[in-house]
Amino acid sequence: MTAPSRPGEPVIVNVPLGDRAYDIAIGRGLLASFGKRLAAIRPNVRVAIVTDSTVAPLYLDMTEAALSEAGISSVRIIVPQGEKSKSFRVFERVCETLIAERIERGDVVVALGGGVVGDLAGFASAVVRRGLEVAQVPTTLLAQVDSSVGGKTGINSQHGKNLVGAFQQPILVVADTALLDTLPAREFRAGYAEVAKYGLIADEAFFTWLEANWREIFTGGAAREHAIAVSCRAKAGVVTRDERESGERALLNLGHTFGHALEAATGFSDRLLHGEGVAVGMTLAFAFSAKSGLMPVAEAERVARHLADVGLPTRLSDISGELPGPDGLLELMAQDKKVKRGKLALILARGIGKSFVEPNVDQAEIKTFLAEQLSGR
Ligand code: NAD
Ligand code: GLY
Repeated sequence: MTAPSRPGEPVIVNVPLGDRAYDIAIGRGLLASFGKRLAAIRPNVRVAIVTDSTVAPLYLDMTEAALSEAGISSVRIIVPQGEKSKSFRVFERVCETLIAERIERGDVVVALGGGVVGDLAGFASAVVRRGLEVAQVPTTLLAQVDSSVGGKTGINSQHGKNLVGAFQQPILVVADTALLDTLPAREFRAGYAEVAKYGLIADEAFFTWLEANWREIFTGGAAREHAIAVSCRAKAGVVTRDERESGERALLNLGHTFGHALEAATGFSDRLLHGEGVAVGMTLAFAFSAKSGLMPVAEAERVARHLADVGLPTRLSDISGELPGPDGLLELMAQDKKVKRGKLALILARGIGKSFVEPNVDQAEIKTFLAEQLSGR
């Protein structure tokens, strides 16, 4: 684990993907430098800023001003806030507007928002005129530590999450950690689940550090920048080794097979935010690993305890309203992109920081496990 950066100094994490390498700049107050940073790598471009209806009144003017100061002109596309904007309907509107505004090859789509805007705008940039460029300005914790980095973009299908999409690496990511000050506490917590994920996957020391320092991440001290930088470094490393998810990258989906099924079961609604689904999913993945004899039960309980301390849901009983039974949940899990020829792959763990891909999980065992978890509701 790296030492915290000095206050006021941006941290730069490079994602070394050859001629598609890019920087992630992390720090408080960095939005003001966004235009300068973009102009330094892409002089004379036009920009379309895609943002949502909540972020626009907060940060769109500042973003436009930062671009204009660097001599970059921009147009704006505002979509409704929320997961429902990752739909064919909104995607069509974004694409048609980019075309109508004559955003051309070599021009840049700026995704100003959380993971929804990043996924939607990134996907539009991948397909309009067979490929524009995208720069990510993530405004949620989840987007700063995960979705803005690594090039996965896409929208949802009626059959499940992120089933239509493309790999489209950004040319620049600017994570201004001050923007998180306006994020509702529930959204911040949901993003924190993805921070904890990096510790759980492969960095027990980071998880231990989080157990001691999570409060400072929430209040916005130097620990926030440190946690985001550690997370981005971890993600950059995985993406560099396995950009297209032929192996190791699947680890980043720890908790997501359960989580995506629960998101689908709750109608991609406010009943369960993405990060909350990941928190429940990671807890279930560790509990299932312990039940399978891969680690002591106490280790799985430590994971659940930390996520619950932070205020995240960890049990199926923490989700309000009805849920499908074990068959229904298993059916939803089977829509996961990791399913190959009907075999369900799950990310399991031999302990905190010791996650691995299990490519062939016995579906009957999962069903029994889900039935037990549901009966404990
Ligand atoms: P989100 O984009 O819906 O943002 C959450 C809410 O916070 C929205 O209402 C938004 O308007 C609001 N908001 C955003 N920034 C704000 C700010 N600074 N102040 C106040 N309000 C703000 O949700 P999210 O949690 O950022 O992202 C979830 C999405 O990301 C899911 O669709 C998920 O599938 C996707 N995701 C993608 C990847 C990837 O690798 N591409 C990784 C993880 C998650
Ligand atoms: N969030 C999972 C990935 O980027 O692979």
